[in-house]
Amino acid sequence: PLPLIIDTDPGADDVIALLLALSARDQLDVRALTTVAGNVQLSYTSRNARMVREWANRPDVPVYAGSARPMLRTPIYAAEVHGAEGVTGVKVFEPKQPLAEGNAVQYLIDTLASAKPKSMTIVTLGPQTNLALALIQNPQIGQGIREVVMMGGAHFNGGNITPVAEFNVFADPHASDVVFKSGLPITVIPLDVTHKMLTSPERIAHLRKIGNQAGKIAADILDAYVEHDIKQYGLPGGPVHDATTIGYLLRPEMFKGRMVNVEVDTREGPTFGQTVVDYYHVTQRPANARWITEGDAQGFFDLLATRLARLS
Ligand code: BDR
Ligand code: CA
Repeated sequence: PLPLIIDTDPGADDVIALLLALSARDQLDVRALTTVAGNVQLSYTSRNARMVREWANRPDVPVYAGSARPMLRTPIYAAEVHGAEGVTGVKVFEPKQPLAEGNAVQYLIDTLASAKPKSMTIVTLGPQTNLALALIQNPQIGQGIREVVMMGGAHFNGGNITPVAEFNVFADPHASDVVFKSGLPITVIPLDVTHKMLTSPERIAHLRKIGNQAGKIAADILDAYVEHDIKQYGLPGGPVHDATTIGYLLRPEMFKGRMVNVEVDTREGPTFGQTVVDYYHVTQRPANARWITEGDAQGFFDLLATRLARLS
């Protein structure tokens, strides 16, 4: 199985992503969850990650809390989308198992600096503050990274938090700037693809029909969470951004993209936080990321249901 660390800000769609990842033990060796402030404050995202660990019955996976604020900008949250405590649609609780000791940034540094060369996959499902700070404190950690797979950014159809910016990058553009300039292999799951892989009442009902706790939790969360994007953006269903990213890891052949150069606009102004994507190679800037634009939506929702059915 692929060894990976998931950096996350749960977050409704993060919860679905984590359930999917933790259900796929045969393919994914999840070494830790690291948390960051994003959709809601760090205390909530950390508690929520611990809740998911309990739902998935995976006490073997440590949860490290990381950065409570972005690198430079004023913090922003998305409680109107995800609920005041980050997981709309379900009852929250205080999980029994505590956080691991130490900060997520230090955990990333220690783990990646001593990892086998190019062995670890880092998945980021929130603002990239933790990974950027780890790279700043110890650039050597790049040696242990096989690939960074990130949910974030937007190009063809605009942003979800400003007309041009996607939430995760907008919430800490300086961090994403560090990541895109790191020279690491990066795969990006932007809104360009997540907005093509939408829920439908049938797809949510299919999850509920699984009949286990994971299926019910996923269906309850999605029923509540997709409302915002359907109303606000006029989409025919709700995108499950972060879970799409895990879908990519499990079934990369269901996705299509191309190598491009991506720059992040870190200047204050109307395009703050925009991912500037040289899709048609009109500059001489070398490609630094694979930008995914197409995915098999039905294949993804079938995969999600099959996998969640395996969580007892
Ligand atoms: C991203 O922003 C967050 O609100 C979601 O959890 C997802 O990671 C989508 O733009
Ligand atoms: Ca997220």
